[in-house]
Amino acid sequence: MHIQDGPRVVATPELGSIYLNVQPHALTISDNLRATYTFDREGRLLGCFVDGVNYRCGLCGDILLKATQPGGGKLRRILPPDERASLAEGVHAAVARIGAAIAGQVADELRAWLAVILAWDAGRRERDRQAFQAIYKPVSIVPPDQYRAVVLQATEGCSWNRCSFCTFYRDHRFHIKGPAELREHIRQIKAFLGRGLALRTSVFLGDANALIIPQPRLLDLLQVVYDELPPEGDRAPRGIYAFLDIFGGEQKTTAQYADLRAAGVRRVYIGLESGDPEVFRLLNKPGSPEACVEVVRRIKAGGIDVGVILLAGPGGATLAGQHVAQSIAALEAMGLGAGDLVYISPLIVPDDGPYSQQARDLGLAPLGAAELEAQLAALKLGAAAATQRRPKVALYHIEEWIY
Ligand SMILES: C[S@@+](CC[C@H](N)C(=O)[O-])C[C@H]1O[C@@H](n2cnc3c(N)ncnc32)[C@H](O)[C@@H]1O
Ligand code: SF4
Repeated sequence: MHIQDGPRVVATPELGSIYLNVQPHALTISDNLRATYTFDREGRLLGCFVDGVNYRCGLCGDILLKATQPGGGKLRRILPPDERASLAEGVHAAVARIGAAIAGQVADELRAWLAVILAWDAGRRERDRQAFQAIYKPVSIVPPDQYRAVVLQATEGCSWNRCSFCTFYRDHRFHIKGPAELREHIRQIKAFLGRGLALRTSVFLGDANALIIPQPRLLDLLQVVYDELPPEGDRAPRGIYAFLDIFGGEQKTTAQYADLRAAGVRRVYIGLESGDPEVFRLLNKPGSPEACVEVVRRIKAGGIDVGVILLAGPGGATLAGQHVAQSIAALEAMGLGAGDLVYISPLIVPDDGPYSQQARDLGLAPLGAAELEAQLAALKLGAAAATQRRPKVALYHIEEWIY
């Protein structure tokens, strides 16, 4: 029997109304609208909402808690092992209770899915965590629209790794995988994800600047991706998404971007961070704002969409005016359109990094909370107005990240 997709309610005398939302690749169970649990086909918990608190579960085994605090403001933290275990056990017990109560009212296939979910005991979770660590180097960040991608580490780390504010890859050695190594990596990921692979409809080519790989090697690697993750049934091939730094972007021509488009690349994410040359220099990014505008125009001329990332807060209150004005001017010059994204990332200043040292040396006054909010609003508004063709503008909060 085929599970009938879509939402439905099952009423039980003991538990009240249980809402089931059966999607082809995900199942959401809602307990009287008090708690909600979502699983993939492999039975992995993807996320849940319990007593007003949101939890996002990473493939890495960690769980990110997100909640609104009583006085406003957001709480975000990775659960320590004991809290993580107790949340997972609570969800397991709830699904066991619900499964027993609704067993007589649902199709065999849904009962089988519930059994797959209930097979995730503490031992299975720990083995899964270790399997993830054996396959992946830490997955430091991906753009928010790619949280449900299959991440492939075609490269590890960042080829530049010297931006004054960025700590993502500090301790990682930069490495480009060869075709055989990438093929093996993808095979391990497919085995790891199992039936959960179907939920992930895009590929994010990690890590920091995967498209910096010289073109012939990159095209060979994209062929491996296509071979290993081909289109299935009536589904189009998974689009490929990746970061690129400005320096890497300058190394490719429009024709080469068009070739990458033909090989499946759909969006390139690039950190402009600030359109103001003075703020940009503080950040020690490779290239310049001007070069970033040129690279974005080239990528777009090759038929690939972009995601441009701006920071909120660099240069503090002292340089705020020029940061906002010049960043919006740079976005305007890029000619962004409907398929493009602009992300705004509130700067998290690492205590021990070169950025904070420089800011102290230059006597830059940091932005207060209200000033930061005002800058976020100004950047959002300016970015939305920067083109008649309206790219999407969203917040990019690096502390809300988990894979
Ligand atoms: C992998 S990096 C960017 C891609 C590419 N490597 C580049 O530099 O263009 C992803 C983004 O994370 C953001 N980021 C890194 N460190 C940050 C920090 N300390 N606070 C806020 N955002 C940060 C930056 O906006 C950066 O563009
Ligand atoms: S911002 Fe990008 S280029 Fe700079 S160190 Fe981080 S990942 Fe590398």
